[in-house]
Amino acid sequence: MTTKPPGIVILISGRGSNLEAIIEATRRGELPVDIRAVISNRPDAAGIAIARRAGIETVVIDHACQADRASFDAALQTTIDTYNPGLVVLAGFMRLLTPGFVEQYRGRLINIHPSLLPDFPGLNTHQRVIDAGREVTGATVHFVTAETDGGPAYLQARVAVRKDDTAGTLAARVLRQEHRLYREAIRQVAEGRIALDNEDRVILDGVPLETVPLLGTAVVTGT
Ligand code: GAR
Repeated sequence: MTTKPPGIVILISGRGSNLEAIIEATRRGELPVDIRAVISNRPDAAGIAIARRAGIETVVIDHACQADRASFDAALQTTIDTYNPGLVVLAGFMRLLTPGFVEQYRGRLINIHPSLLPDFPGLNTHQRVIDAGREVTGATVHFVTAETDGGPAYLQARVAVRKDDTAGTLAARVLRQEHRLYREAIRQVAEGRIALDNEDRVILDGVPLETVPLLGTAVVTGT
């Protein structure tokens, strides 16, 4: 008997390299999900073309054309629900979401952020990591709550900061790890291994997480 892969909807705002990595992983048979749609809040997001080339439905809901945040989130929710996804994946989606929206998708809405959360939420992450003199940074996948880049984390990858790193070189190195990390994190949801309980605890294989697991044990120093 074959089981149907869970449906996902991916939300983007820009470049779409995480989106592309997810698409490629499904193509290679490494990620058992059915990407039902890609939704962008920006008409000029480069990721839209990546989705179209892969034959995935795309929808633009331009936030600039919506009266306010609540109207945008209502339109977004209506569109997402058309596709009836089991999981909504934020992949470089750079819009704050209202608490009501987030609550609708509680436990089915995940985000990736390029730092070891709870450190360095928000924008300009890599420069702030360098300015703080950190030797290790990374990326985090977490369930989304109303707090920006908050919400229970459930998988991280660590990346070494080099003495000569600029925000650009560090971002590129972290991004390569993001692509591996998101694939694994989405796979855990797709395989039904990870869930959020009513007390906002992450449950992995039936057991509450006490610390956030790392993808691999090593700090990645090279590409
Ligand atoms: C990624 O680095 C992602 O972690 C970050 O935006 C970038 C999107 O790149 N997201 C956040 O900072 C969320 N707070 P992509 O469009 O190439 O996937």
